Amino acid sequence: MLSKQEKQQIEAKVHHYPNKRALSLEALKIVQEHRGWVTDEGIADVAEALQLRPAELEGVATFYNMIFRKPVGKHVILLCDSVSCWIMGYERLREHLTTRLGVGLGETSVDQQFTLLPNVCLGACDHAPVMMIDNAHYQDLDAGKIDEILAMYRQQDIERADGNTTDQ
Ligand code: FES
Repeated sequence: MLSKQEKQQIEAKVHHYPNKRALSLEALKIVQEHRGWVTDEGIADVAEALQLRPAELEGVATFYNMIFRKPVGKHVILLCDSVSCWIMGYERLREHLTTRLGVGLGETSVDQQFTLLPNVCLGACDHAPVMMIDNAHYQDLDAGKIDEILAMYRQQDIERADGNTTDQ
């Protein structure tokens, strides 16, 4: 069943879409935001709320690569592997990221911090090479910049965890 918050957020979006089918991607994103990834149960919950068949939701979830049907790390890194980024050093950066994170493409680091996924053009080809982490774009990348960005995320997570501990 959808949580109260999930339900409220989905209902708040209803008037932005012509029908419930059009709303389905947004609804799946909301569920993913709350649960980290979209389980079969999540599909069934959204289907029930929108009065659609689970298979329709499954189709939407499979089509959009930003809907995760498997557990992912706390942060998802999308590394662009399209032509401009490829020319500007994609392979070097992929090597660097896989070494730094200790994972291959499609995998999640042991500390569950990062999932590394390949992605088609992220729309910033004039600033290749490019990656996205969660909703943020990072461009004109090199190995040093990647290290700084990963360190920043790790630091932010530590601070957040410390904040939560202090709050309790
Ligand atoms: S090719 Fe990488 S952002 Fe377009």
